[in-house]
Amino acid sequence: MTTVTLAPMEGVVDVYMRELLTGIGGFDLCVSEFVRVSQHLFPAAVFYRNCPELLTGGKTSSGVPVHVQIMGGEPSVMAENAAYVAELGAPGIDINFGCPAKTVNRHDAGATLLQWPDRLNEIVSAVRRAVPASIPVSAKMRLGFSEKSLALENALAIECAGASKLTVHARTKLEGYRAPAHWEYLQPLAEKLEIPVVANGEIWTKDDYSQCLALSGCAHVMVGRGVIARPSLGLEISTEGEQFFQLGLFDWPKILNLIIDYYNLTKSMENENRQMGRLKQWIKLLGRTYGQSSVLFDQIRRFEDPMKIVQEVRKELYRSMGDQLAS
Ligand SMILES: Cc1cc2nc3c(=O)[nH]c(=O)nc-3n(C[C@H](O)[C@H](O)[C@H](O)COP(=O)(O)O)c2cc1C
Repeated sequence: MTTVTLAPMEGVVDVYMRELLTGIGGFDLCVSEFVRVSQHLFPAAVFYRNCPELLTGGKTSSGVPVHVQIMGGEPSVMAENAAYVAELGAPGIDINFGCPAKTVNRHDAGATLLQWPDRLNEIVSAVRRAVPASIPVSAKMRLGFSEKSLALENALAIECAGASKLTVHARTKLEGYRAPAHWEYLQPLAEKLEIPVVANGEIWTKDDYSQCLALSGCAHVMVGRGVIARPSLGLEISTEGEQFFQLGLFDWPKILNLIIDYYNLTKSMENENRQMGRLKQWIKLLGRTYGQSSVLFDQIRRFEDPMKIVQEVRKELYRSMGDQLAS
């Protein structure tokens, strides 16, 4: 059965977004934003901040598990932190070998490690040994650092180390986020590995999803920006969504209601500026699918109070419902 995972996205897919999107449905699993592990064991507060779901059984309130992602290049420190976050109740640990950020790569973590399959193996092995066997350890990588020749070797190194699953963002670090994603390069990995290979990158619609499965030979997908811009996407592509007759794109009033729900969820954020930043960011990103959201973004971009933003969203909701009734 195909599974759909909500991608980790630092600064975008936080606890509130996970709550909202898993509430809509279509997701089997979430992965938290990364915790950058460098020299020492973090206190519990760091993991609780990154993944507050640890306090509620490691699941969102819709019951979708959230695996905690860690990132670093030192096997023993990664292992120590992984063991601790497992103790705190993480239902799974994911290791990030895909982050392209220069500061991260300069400090020996993320995608830079894709240049050395042995190091991937050492890190995953150390984490696997440190975490109880009942807790899955997975990894997420790109096709390579500057080119793709080590993709299979890296994937096998991760599998041999005992990972239970591998997600592959179908681009190199150098390719950044430039379209297209090279789904076809996942095929040899999906063929040769015994563990599930999860395809990731540039799935924006149900058609992209079908094409990705066909070209990659993978049975599982992870979606990130696609579902932020099109919140129905998880349901549209999941088995769960099949029960809804001809489920398609949510209409604009439904999206406005979701923005209001997100505002309500983010009200518990301590920092109002951060809440406002997240609201503006989501309204902007929705513009890729909903032209109306780009117009709305232009109206609210200079607002300095989250309440003013949500007032504008409510006004737009009444306007658009009126338009719907009139048509
Ligand atoms: C703003 C942003 C933050 C991200 N943060 C993470 C992260 O914390 N961990 C990770 O493994 N990948 C991270 N990614 C990569 C995504 O998980 C995903 O691999 C990438 O966006 C491609 O998938 P998509 O086309 O479905 O978005 C991030 C991507 C973006 C755009």
